[in-house]
Amino acid sequence: MHGVLRRTSREVAKTLKCRFVLTSLNMAIPLVRFEGVRFAYGENDILRDVTLSVAAGQVVAIMGGSGSGKTTLLRLIGGQLKANAGRVEVDGEDIGALSESALYERRKKLGMLFQFGALFTDLSVFDNVAFPLRERTQLPESMIRDLVLMKLQAVGLRGAAQLMPAELSGGMARRVALARAIALDPRVMLYDEPFTGLDPISLTTIGSLIRELNDALGAASIVVTHDVAESLAIVDYVYFVAEGGVIAEGTPEAVRESSHPFVRQFIAGQKDGPLPFHKPAGAYAADLGLEVGRE
Ligand SMILES: Nc1ncnc2c1ncn2[C@@H]1O[C@H](COP(=O)(O)OP(=O)(O)OP(=O)(O)O)[C@@H](O)[C@H]1O
Ligand SMILES: [Mg+2]
Repeated sequence: MHGVLRRTSREVAKTLKCRFVLTSLNMAIPLVRFEGVRFAYGENDILRDVTLSVAAGQVVAIMGGSGSGKTTLLRLIGGQLKANAGRVEVDGEDIGALSESALYERRKKLGMLFQFGALFTDLSVFDNVAFPLRERTQLPESMIRDLVLMKLQAVGLRGAAQLMPAELSGGMARRVALARAIALDPRVMLYDEPFTGLDPISLTTIGSLIRELNDALGAASIVVTHDVAESLAIVDYVYFVAEGGVIAEGTPEAVRESSHPFVRQFIAGQKDGPLPFHKPAGAYAADLGLEVGRE
């Protein structure tokens, strides 16, 4: 398996040689940057002050409790949402300031793999991966064919090109979605819970692919995940999000040794800790009507 992945990564790197060389000179330039970002859904403040950055070549994990705003962060990068204050930059551009048409163009730089980002069920694996190339480029069909086969080779599924999504296992479907997400050679890859629902072997495969594709593309990858063991094995840096901001951050080594209570709660997978299990609510007894009639 490892041999396959390593060979795959070399092949991808070969096809992207120019970009690879360029990005190795630019390793320290942030591809994604949040500066004092605030975001609310209506009255509901989700992010109060978020500052973080992800450089070319880096894979970064974002961890945090359910509802802490992790998916919201990804939507701000994709420009589906706009910050109320502060700046969200992708490759040096202020995403919030772009017009709809500019945003549409810039999204070519972004690859997204969402947990429920399903494949088109009535298209073959090949046509699923070809979809963004046909939709977003003017390339001739012969070149699209080569690119699709290269992307499928990179995720180890060239042999499945003619299958329909219903004929794939969950892990294979996730890999096809990954091939589709990298079809346009994105500069930034966003993953929302990429490991959820996978068996341990598929999970490790997806983890290795995230790392190797990032390195081959010279991209920046952001992985929103609850899966501590898998993500610490592949990422360069971790941001912990809670209470509207980044409350802890560090390398996987620093995270493993951290005594920060939020971080400990995450690493140990404890239900009880600084992250509350219950969303704030009124008194339970009153909600159940148990106090009615009490004098
Ligand atoms: N479209 C929306 N309109 C209003 N509120 C929303 C909307 N989407 C999300 N929220 C709220 O924003 C908060 C953050 O949501 P978000 O999806 O970013 O959380 P998350 O960290 O990704 O959680 P999870 O780990 O459960 O996926 C939640 O309290 C949620 O209820
Ligand atoms: Mg989410």
